[in-house]
Amino acid sequence: MRLSLRFVLPLLLVLAGIAYAVGPLVDRLTLSWFVQDLDSRASLVANTLQEPLLEQLTAKKKTKTIEFFNRITRDERLFAIGYCAAPTGKALATRSLPEEIHCDELRRWEGPRNHLLPSDQGPLHVTVKPMVSEAAPNGRLVLVQDMSFVTRRSEETKRYVFYLFMGLAGVVSLITVVVAQLSWRGWIAGMRALLRGEGLLRHPGASAAPTLPGFKPIARDLQRLIRDLESDAHARDESQITWTPEALRAILRGELSGEDVLVVSNREPYIHERRGDRIDVQRPASGVVTALEPIMRACSGTWIAHGSGSADRDVVDKHDRVAVPPEKPAYRIRRVWLTPEEEAGYYYGFANEGLWPLCHIAHVRPTFRSADWAHYVAVNRKFAEAVADEAKTKDPIVLVQDYHFALLPNMIREILPNATVITFWHIPWPNPESFAICPWRDQVLEGMLGSSILGFHTQFHCNNFVDTVDRFLEARVDRAAFTVSFGGKLTAVRRYPISIAWPPNEESVQTSVADCRSNIRKLNDLPLEHKLGIGVDRLDYTKGILERFSAIERLLELKPEWVGRFSFVQIAAPTRSGIEEYEHHQAQVRAMATRINGRFARRGPPPIVLKVEHHEQRQVYEYFRAADLCFVSSLHDGMNLVAKEFVAARDDDRGVLILSQFTGAARELPEALIVNPYDADECAAALHLALKMPGDEQRDRMRLMRGLVAEYNVFRWAGRMLLDAAAMRRRSRLVEKTGRTTA
Ligand code: G6P
Repeated sequence: MRLSLRFVLPLLLVLAGIAYAVGPLVDRLTLSWFVQDLDSRASLVANTLQEPLLEQLTAKKKTKTIEFFNRITRDERLFAIGYCAAPTGKALATRSLPEEIHCDELRRWEGPRNHLLPSDQGPLHVTVKPMVSEAAPNGRLVLVQDMSFVTRRSEETKRYVFYLFMGLAGVVSLITVVVAQLSWRGWIAGMRALLRGEGLLRHPGASAAPTLPGFKPIARDLQRLIRDLESDAHARDESQITWTPEALRAILRGELSGEDVLVVSNREPYIHERRGDRIDVQRPASGVVTALEPIMRACSGTWIAHGSGSADRDVVDKHDRVAVPPEKPAYRIRRVWLTPEEEAGYYYGFANEGLWPLCHIAHVRPTFRSADWAHYVAVNRKFAEAVADEAKTKDPIVLVQDYHFALLPNMIREILPNATVITFWHIPWPNPESFAICPWRDQVLEGMLGSSILGFHTQFHCNNFVDTVDRFLEARVDRAAFTVSFGGKLTAVRRYPISIAWPPNEESVQTSVADCRSNIRKLNDLPLEHKLGIGVDRLDYTKGILERFSAIERLLELKPEWVGRFSFVQIAAPTRSGIEEYEHHQAQVRAMATRINGRFARRGPPPIVLKVEHHEQRQVYEYFRAADLCFVSSLHDGMNLVAKEFVAARDDDRGVLILSQFTGAARELPEALIVNPYDADECAAALHLALKMPGDEQRDRMRLMRGLVAEYNVFRWAGRMLLDAAAMRRRSRLVEKTGRTTA
């Protein structure tokens, strides 16, 4: 508005000045036009009067002539008439003839410009016309016309001209202000949009494609520049942020405020279990839950998961929803119910007997059954419908978790084409040859390519996935940008190494390391100075528990001084019981522990303490803090969060981590003793080294590892994925607006 006034006031002043300056011009013009008119009128009057006047004069009736003149001057414009028979003497005239007009000075009025005579009543126009007869060869008729109307008209004209200019000024100002406002708003909107990574080319709300082709190259350059700056700032910001749940929430509020966020996973973050008359709420100690909860809390989103608890149905509303956390609800779980047949086919069958061994190189043969596949398809469809049900907008952000939902991304895209689907594959991706044995490999790949972003823990798994797609699908693979274009849809394949919450839960580290050491030793009937190793896993064949036991056996063979002085506590949480391979594995683990203990236990405490049961996080952390070493010997693992948890537990900077080279974690924690779990001798040597490692070296290694876990914690993992999704949404909104892809 201020801008408009600043512009309009000078404009009005300029136009008023012009109108004022135009006044004299108007006077001159109207005068000259009217003088010409009066001249013509005078000629007309003179011609008309000639005959009757000459008759009157011939009759020499002066009084009659003057009466005649008086009659004629009743015309309001004809001010006076006179007649001079000769250049001397008195004129025969109406009384109104101005005194300045004398018969002997008539020549003065005969010139072309000398018609005007000022008077009290206003200007008069004087015309002298020859009016000759035989008796008066020099006779002259004098016609005096009133010109006051000219002044009046001129004033009126000047007034109209002034009004006209003011009107014009008003209209011009109005148009200018409207155009200026529109352009200003458009420019501001354009710049804002551009800064948001959208476009300069259109006004907000316009629906057609851009119409300023001349600006396109400039806009494109600006967009590119802004994108570069943005990604620089991103990288800088990302490394400067201290990633906490609060930081993640603040970023979400800034980048994704008001967005509709949904998480889909097989395991639910809160499980309601019936214990007699009571309903207990259990939190599975899962990395995924820790990582995704802050997102859910920040966005008040919905988490869709299989309702597997015995009291799950008792606590949901009629839409199968329950608000969580129970003590302070911040988001909701939407439970999806599965029949025992569906669970058997989808979860135990295709997911855990098919895809799990297919993706892990653990030499367990995958089992593929078409009935399991049919359930897997149907359950994925069920979850897609739940996503559509729960979505509040037509473009929600959906975070799909893991190998239970390979088909879900594409199914979501069919129902909600504008959704941003981020799929995270928590397990490894095999090489194309291994993956090829899946009878439904193309459908699995096509399903996953419904994702906008597809995440793996390591670059190696990203490469394997892209190679697999390249081998089996008619897709365009861009290895520089790491994108796959399939069926007109682009999927970015990215590495997002998962991690744990940092700092760890206070309750988990509140007992001092010294107390943990003594408590745990007491609990397991071990002497106080006894050396202790720890392993914590689900009882899964991919975890290399048998290989770990072999390494312990080999250590005791090669370095018998440790017999009776070193024990290894293996916490093994039962998992997926019902699958034959898991039952078999459990039996093997138990048998091996018994055999080794039988071989070495004669000289003191048993070398292996096997605990096949679920332990709460607090108890696990107590073991971590009590141990001298932690041994993670997975045969193949996407990441392995146990390694990171051991590091997080050791705020005393002591303890040695022995880590399989086949875990994702090994790429991030090179200060661990990295081993090949298949090489029992190498592992035995690592165990010996760990047991003998001086305190200084333990501290140096542990500090480096703790620094990394603190910096790359789970909040950063989630934040990076969501920031990438936010950038992708900005880009696709730009494409929608401009109707073309960005350069
Ligand atoms: C792996 C999978 C997760 C799964 C977890 C526990 O880490 O990647 O998706 O939740 O194992 O397995 P469970 O079958 O008990 O859910």
